Amino acid sequence: MPAAIYGHQDTTFQSCGGEAGIRALVHDFYNMMSGDPAYARIWSWHTKERRVTEDKLACFLCGWMGGPRLYQEKYGRISIPSSHQHLSVTEQERDMWLSCMASALALQDYPEDLVSYLLVELAKPAEAIRRTSQEQKVP
Ligand code: HEM
Repeated sequence: MPAAIYGHQDTTFQSCGGEAGIRALVHDFYNMMSGDPAYARIWSWHTKERRVTEDKLACFLCGWMGGPRLYQEKYGRISIPSSHQHLSVTEQERDMWLSCMASALALQDYPEDLVSYLLVELAKPAEAIRRTSQEQKVP
């Protein structure tokens, strides 16, 4: 599938295997984060209510990829930067999160162009989180 079509309607969602595919990705993502010491810092920020955390990220990603807006239906509206405002996300933690996601993506049976597309797109909300998180720390 050519990269150009990702991002239109629900093509990204479908290419990721729909809800089941995204749940598998998120499950691998948190397995990676909880198991690899390289991610210990950001993992330590999580509440350990892993089932709920996984569900929230998977529901969010379904809608974010053009599929059903499961997060909104289940948990209500969300602003990604605001929901991370309590954390101190610098470039280091942003890149840790993205690197963990890259490792989880590599475990899926996704075409290379889909993986590249997702990493470019996910870097945008990740950077927005970093910016918001750091802005509020400026006196
Ligand atoms: C920039 C690096 C990031 C870090 C360090 C980070 C960290 C966290 C942490 C610690 C939580 C709370 C989990 C818990 O309480 O168990 C969380 C929740 C969440 N994160 Fe992130 N995150 C990052 C990037 C992202 C990105 C890029 C997205 C979306 C594409 C995202 C989506 C979510 C969602 C949907 C939740 C649940 C929020 C809620 O319902 O309150 N995160 N994240």
